[in-house]
Amino acid sequence: MIGVFDSGLGGLTVLRALVERFPHVSFTYLGDHAHVPYGNRPSDEVVSLTQTGVEALFERGCKLVLLGCNTATAVAARRLQQTWLPQTPWRGSHNVLGIVAPTVEAATQTPWAVTAPQYPQKYNTDLVAVFGTTRTVASGVYPEEIRKRCPKVEVVQQVCAQLASAIEAEAPDAELDALVHEAVDGVLAQTGGAPPHRAILGCTHFPLVEPLFRRHLPPFTRMLSQPVVVADSFEDYLARRPHYVAERPSVRTLTLLTSGDPGDVSSRAHIFWPHAPAFTKL
Ligand code: DGL
Repeated sequence: MIGVFDSGLGGLTVLRALVERFPHVSFTYLGDHAHVPYGNRPSDEVVSLTQTGVEALFERGCKLVLLGCNTATAVAARRLQQTWLPQTPWRGSHNVLGIVAPTVEAATQTPWAVTAPQYPQKYNTDLVAVFGTTRTVASGVYPEEIRKRCPKVEVVQQVCAQLASAIEAEAPDAELDALVHEAVDGVLAQTGGAPPHRAILGCTHFPLVEPLFRRHLPPFTRMLSQPVVVADSFEDYLARRPHYVAERPSVRTLTLLTSGDPGDVSSRAHIFWPHAPAFTKL
């Protein structure tokens, strides 16, 4: 069974892509609604909350947990993989993955394992815009990992501090549109008006407002769709490590857990996934 962890409902955009891509694989999703949003929290809190969530999924039989959240990935993935997991009884048999690596691979057209520039580079002078939460942007993980592989790419980051909460609160379209417009203007202010060649919507909530980003960015800006990119990368990962999905049950299970109020969370999940199963209490 595969675990998917998110601070709240945004990770459902990733889970949905995985469920559609892997029809025989069982998934357990955990949304930490008791502590959402993570995006404006201090780093240590994000690490500790993410670790608690991963432990809960390991204890429920998930040997592989995907952090379906940019903030948790940007702040906690490396620490959990390199410092925490090796000291636990799960070392060697379990793993934690994030969603930054596949996104960087797609943005740079370079495998994650390659950490130095490879020449000639197809997109070596591009301008890339990263839209994310306060904590994801502060981590600097996207510019750092992109520049390592493509040093001539210019990366501009834009904090969208209110957008994830507004999407989750089902704010009116006009309000969401104004927030997206403001974010795009923030990028243009940094680039002297030059629109980006590519845009990374670096928050799992943002695919829901992709048409609004589309409206405010010119047609030549290519948008990276994180759920698709993550599903592609996960397919490749599982093909190389089939033991994580070796025990195929005759009926696939799909379990949605929350640390919050299951009734309230289930009633709001439809905006991320119209026919999502109901949440149960962690
Ligand atoms: N899911 C988070 C992400 O992708 C955003 C929501 C939050 O701030 O908790 O960054």
